[in-house]
Amino acid sequence: MEKPVRLDKFLADAGAGTRSEVKKYIQKGQVQVNGKLVKKPELKITEEDQVVMNGQEIHAAPEYVYYLFNKPAGCVSATEDRNDRTVMEYVPSDRKGLFPVGRLDKDTEGLLLITDDGMLAHELLAPGKHVDKTYFVRVEGNVTPEAVAKLEEGVDIGEAKLTMPAKAEIVGGSFEAEAETFSKTVRVRRENLPEVYTELYLTIHEGKFHQVKRMMEAVGTPVIYLKRLSMGTLTLPDDLKKGECRPLTEKEVTELKESVKR
Ligand code: URA
Repeated sequence: MEKPVRLDKFLADAGAGTRSEVKKYIQKGQVQVNGKLVKKPELKITEEDQVVMNGQEIHAAPEYVYYLFNKPAGCVSATEDRNDRTVMEYVPSDRKGLFPVGRLDKDTEGLLLITDDGMLAHELLAPGKHVDKTYFVRVEGNVTPEAVAKLEEGVDIGEAKLTMPAKAEIVGGSFEAEAETFSKTVRVRRENLPEVYTELYLTIHEGKFHQVKRMMEAVGTPVIYLKRLSMGTLTLPDDLKKGECRPLTEKEVTELKESVKR
């Protein structure tokens, strides 16, 4: 709250009620400013003032809010959609102006930042910033050392330039499954997986449309499952379940802002 604001607006923004509700509370004498009863909704207050309503101190709404969301498959990264569920339906806030920072495809899972801080979103998505994004990728087929080398050098995905060098690390695949024949989860997984598949971590520094899918297709191994694990300084926490959303900690917000400072 940088400039003085009307008391009724301050209370409504802080979530104490709608504008007309808080006006009534003020007029009925339920609000005190700096220990004094006030009955004027138009009274201007600043962040120095202490506002108490019905005995409870009311704190100014934060300028911006930031949520870390573990996106499940099946919803779209948009604020509105005619046909599909949007990621906004999972956010525990009806604050206006919230939006997802960038897009994950409808079938992609994982880390998505949701905020109303347009400036930070702009910085995170700016092509020149090259914010790292790491994905867990499962593809059909065998990712050869030659394919890894190509991903790390840059691949042709039909754009004017090759993709920027990425980091690819094979972490699993069908070659491992044999050892775990007696594990129920693995047996279920294997039934739903192609005979030959590879799992890898892929870190990219750009955000082109369907970039990971296009890169993996370009090296001959189409994506069958995709999940974002990190974006810049943010990492998907292990205990944040699919479909869950939690506010970023102050430390996470500070680190994220610092990382994209010009
Ligand atoms: N790359 C893709 O192909 N899809 C996503 O959802 C994110 C990155």
